Order: sequence, then C-alpha cells, then structure tokens
Amino acid sequence: MAVARMNMNCSIQSSLSCILKPSSFFNFRTTHFRNRLYFPQNNFIAPKRSLLCTCSSNTNAFQTGEKAEPFVITTPLYYVNAPPHMGSAYTTIAADAIARFQRLLGKRVIFITGTDEHGEKIATAASAGGSSPREHCDVISQAYKMLWKDLDIAYDKFIRTTDPKHEAIVEEFYSRVLANDDIYRADYEGLYCVNCEEYKDEKELLENNCCPTHLKPCVPRKEDNYFFALSKYQKSLEEILAQNPDFVQPSYRLNEVQSWIKSGLRDFSISRAAVDWGIPVPNDNKQTIYVWFDALLGYISALLEDKDQPNLQSAVSSGWPASLHLIGKDILRFHAVYWPAMLMSAGLSIPKRVFGHGFLTKDGMKMGKSLGNTIEPNELVHKFGVDAIRYFFLREVEFGNDGDYSEDRFINIVNAHLANTIGNLLNRTLGLLKKNCQSTLVVDSTIAAEGKEFKDTVEKLVEKARIHYENLALSSACEAVLEIGNAGNLYMDKHQPWSLFKQGGDASEAAAKDLVIILETMRIIAIALSPVAPSLCRRIHAQLGYSEDQFDNLNWSETKWGGLKGGQVMAEPKPVFARIEQLKENENGGAEAPKKVVKKKEKKKQVQGVIEA
Ligand code: MSP
Repeated sequence: MAVARMNMNCSIQSSLSCILKPSSFFNFRTTHFRNRLYFPQNNFIAPKRSLLCTCSSNTNAFQTGEKAEPFVITTPLYYVNAPPHMGSAYTTIAADAIARFQRLLGKRVIFITGTDEHGEKIATAASAGGSSPREHCDVISQAYKMLWKDLDIAYDKFIRTTDPKHEAIVEEFYSRVLANDDIYRADYEGLYCVNCEEYKDEKELLENNCCPTHLKPCVPRKEDNYFFALSKYQKSLEEILAQNPDFVQPSYRLNEVQSWIKSGLRDFSISRAAVDWGIPVPNDNKQTIYVWFDALLGYISALLEDKDQPNLQSAVSSGWPASLHLIGKDILRFHAVYWPAMLMSAGLSIPKRVFGHGFLTKDGMKMGKSLGNTIEPNELVHKFGVDAIRYFFLREVEFGNDGDYSEDRFINIVNAHLANTIGNLLNRTLGLLKKNCQSTLVVDSTIAAEGKEFKDTVEKLVEKARIHYENLALSSACEAVLEIGNAGNLYMDKHQPWSLFKQGGDASEAAAKDLVIILETMRIIAIALSPVAPSLCRRIHAQLGYSEDQFDNLNWSETKWGGLKGGQVMAEPKPVFARIEQLKENENGGAEAPKKVVKKKEKKKQVQGVIEA
C-alpha cells in the first residue's frame, strides 16, 4: 500500500467518473503512464509538443511575432495568510529580471504571478483578523499587487485562486484525473503541518514532531480523503528526469528530487474533510480540494484570456507548457514530483523547467511569516529605493543558494556599484561633455573606438552577461555588467580626458572621443542591467538623450557597440543614483532610528531622491 496507515473505506471514486465524465472526455486517454513516456493520444495537446521536457537551451534566437512560442515564466502563487515579505518578493524580483531579459531577446513573454487563497491557514488568518476569508483575501492579494508595483514588477497575469475561472479549471482538471482512474477514497492518519499544508513523514521531523521549515509541532490528523495515485507515476518520473537532466535546476536539486523518487512515491491526499474554505470536490461537497491540487492549476488558469471560456482547452492553447517555474527550494517536491505526475494523469504537457532557488535568511534562519523574522519590503523600498533592492538581492545572493541580509552590506554594495561605479562615471562624463563639447557627441561611437581594444573588452563582457542571464546566473550577470563599469572607470583614469581638454588641439579631440567611448559604454550598461534595475537604467538611458519609448522598445541586440552617433545631444547631467549615507551613532542624537539616510535629503524625500534622482 502506497499510503501509510491508509485503509480503503470506499469503492474507488472513479465509479463516479461515468456520471461526471463530460462528453469531451470520450476522446480522452485512460491508460496509465506506467512504463513509457507519452505523447498523449488525444488532440488536446498540440501534435508536435511532447509531454517530455523539451528544454530549449538555445534561447539566443531572437524570436518575434505572435506566432512564436511564448516564454511562460511563473512565480509561486503566494499564500495570503499574511502580507508579503522580502522572501516572497525575492522570487518575484528574480522572475521579473528573467522576464525582462527574455523580452529584450524579442520573445513574447507571459509572466505569471498571483495569490494562493484557499485552505485552512488562510481561513484561520482571516478569522484571527476578524474578517471573512474573502475580505481577507481581497486585502492581502491587493497588498501583493501594490508591492509588485513598488518593486517594478512587470507581470502579465495575476491569478487569484478564488477567481471563478480558476475554480472551473480546477474542477475540470480534477474530473480528468478522476476519469483516468487516478483518484480513490481512503482513510489517512498522520502528522500534519498546517503551515506547509502537508502531511509529514515522521522521519523528516525534528524533536517533538516539529516541522524542519516552520519549527512548529505537526498535529496528528485522521481523515477520510480522496487520494491521488502518485505511486503509479514513479517510473515515468524517473524516466523524465533521467532523460531531461535540465528539468530540475540547479543541478544539485535534481539529485534531491531523484532521491525522493527513488525512495518510493506515496499517493497523497488531495481533499480535506475539515476545511470549508476551498473548492468543493466535484460530486462530494463535504470535502474541499487540497490547496496544492488547486493552486498548481493557477499556472494554467492564469493563461486564460478575458474573452475565453474557462476550460482547459482554451487555457492550454494560450501558452502551456510553462517554460520555467521559479520557486523556493521548500516547494520543490510539489513542483518537480507531484505536479508533473498530476499533469501526466490529466494528459497535459509537463513544464519545461523548474528552478528551485535558496532562502533569504536572517541569522541563518529562513525569513518567513511563520517564524516572524521577516524584512518588510515596503520599508526597504521607502528607505533605499527600488533599484537598490532589486540589485542587491540579485547581485548578492547567488541564485540557487541561500543568502543572509545585512543592512551594512546592503549599503556598501549599492553605494560601491550603483552610485560609484555606474552613477558617478556617467555623471562626471556628462559633466565633462557639457563643459567641453556643449553636451554633443563629436563623432559616432564606432569611429571613436576605432583601433581600441576597449570596445572588444566591452563586447566580451556583454556576451558574458547574456550567457549568465540565459543560465539564470543572475548574480554573475550583474557582475559582468559591473565589470563593464569598472573597465569604463579604468579607461577614464588612464586617459584623463579632463587634462587632455586643457592641452587643446589633438589632445582635446582625443578627449572628446574618449567621452563618446564612455557614454557608449553607459548606453550598453543601460540595456544590459535593465532586467535587474529597470528604473535606474531608464534614467541612464534618458540622460543619453533617448526617449521613454526608445527605452521601452530596446532589444538585446542593441548592446552591440555603435549605438551612439555623432551630433547626438545628451541631457543635462543629473545624478542617476543618490549615494546612501550611514549616520554615525552620535549624529542621530542617540535615537535608534533612522540610522541611514540618503545624503542631504529628508527621510520622506529620500525615497524620491533615490528613485527619481
Ligand atoms: N502557496 C504556496 C505556493 C503555491 S504555487 C502553486 C506557497 N506560498 S508561500 O507564500 O508560502 O511561498 C511562496 C514562495 O516564497 C516559495 O517559493 C517560498 O520558497 C518563497 N519564500 C518564502 N520565504 C522565503 C525566503 N525567506 N527566502 C526566499 N524565498 C522564500 O508556498
């Protein structure tokens, strides 16, 4: 028996399937995927699309046009038991950077995020706050949307699992799995972690049956539930992973997934008898569908257009399978094991890639709502501005690994990289151009760089950044762009155009060319760093005399040297990133906060200073 202490107490629910089965199911495959990998026999999946992961490693192609396969990227759908914190913001910032990079490549991107609103812990949080679950969900879901706006998150779809269209998709999906004989009814007794919304294996628990993630004791539960026959998909999953080692990334997480599967997959319960706040099980409204069997479907229902009928056929044809699920490592099992098996059961393609990143930690512990050790993203935005936050977390935490937050480190990094290496370089170059060339470029950047190695250096670094973005090595991508800035600073220091201008004649001409070279470098940085720090890059680009529209329509191919032309007039030099100053203890009159201020600005205006400088 695949499920621990489980007793069959009812005939298999699939006997209901003939009652439930909608006519569209008549074409539907009902065999299992035991020993082979399937190309489903129904016409539900586009004929050439395999169930298998077909991870396309060549994302270098510049695809355009409506017909091109979209790049569909998802964040997890966040639980609305509490407002968002920096941990939830982290996944979304990373997803946004990847989505922006793919758009720069010319891809049609569908960036999906949203909120996971059903289940016991949401209902409990709502009642603790004295509101109905629906009111509670409306408020918290809105808080997510507002934070995404503040963090420059350009998502395409925001799905709420309480959306009736989503509920229709979940019901249809459930019925498909049922029709495939993969749902049965049984008793279950085990230890449950409400925060994970998951039954736990005793051997994975800490002392006093505490959940290793939430450090809270799991509670004994006994329920009569519907189960999903996960164990039937053991062989298929093993084969998928063996044949598609890129399906789970980073590679060290693949080993983890493989060992879970190897240790034997157990069927899991997909309904709850004691939870009202959920989607009723089709044909048994005494039970609601388990939150994960509901929320994962959000990745598909999000694809529905407003005009679409809410059915799987429409949703899937708008872009399934997802190109990339971006998730934290704690929910890898759901995405890399449960979800592909569920999809196979329903005859749908599995996603192309699942990337499990690490945790933001505080004092070594996962930052989270349950442990109450979170950092308030809104506070950080107001204190330091959106670019600093996005840049710091993507640059400082190697994507995939855990990373600890420290305010001192935060300030040091963003000051050194964004204010000094990039902001200062631009500002002093534009200052010199204004003083000596009426803010006008004397020649094309291609001519200015003729015979200079510098151009090759920049081009090599941009290519390095592109490869890192492709591989989701976001920190290394930032590092490569920063190296371009460092190279620019070295060039300035070596050529000293300010003293060449003083010499006049040929020296002055050379100096004017040097400024063109540096500004071309800044133009390239403005494109290459735009996935990570879009507002900052917009300001840099505007300083180079470009319009908002030109920024919005940039393409990665424009990182090629040669964009700036002779005669082009630069904008008035204005700092693009204000340095963050740290007050010494005694400058604050002994008061505890605020300790950090942005130079020469009041606290409220600091934000403006940083964002709009
Ligand atoms: N609702 C589920 C996901 C369903 S997806 C169909 C869920 N929600 S969550 O709000 O608890 O977590 C959402 C994501 O935030 C997870 O990927 C989780 O790893 C991530 N993070 C939560 N705290 C985090 C950190 N401290 N650091 C980094 N990411 C963290 O799970």
